[in-house]
Amino acid sequence: MANGESFIIHLNGRPMRVHAGMTVAAAILEAGVASRLSVRGEPRQPLCGMGICYECRASIDGQAHQRTCQILCRPGITVVAG
Ligand code: FES
Repeated sequence: MANGESFIIHLNGRPMRVHAGMTVAAAILEAGVASRLSVRGEPRQPLCGMGICYECRASIDGQAHQRTCQILCRPGITVVAG
């Protein structure tokens, strides 16, 4: 898929248009939602952007705790964040 193309993913049950080459973390940030909640219920967002901090974890296609900063959006994926 060439850069500049766009497609639809599903984020928290809503369709969202994203650009090819965009990470799932970037899509979550653009949507303005938390990646996950801490054990105390605090919203968490990507911090390092390079796979080390694990703050960007979310479920992708039913697989929990995926580091979204390391995964590119693909057409039709389902992301559950927050
Ligand atoms: S933002 Fe740190 S692991 Fe993804």
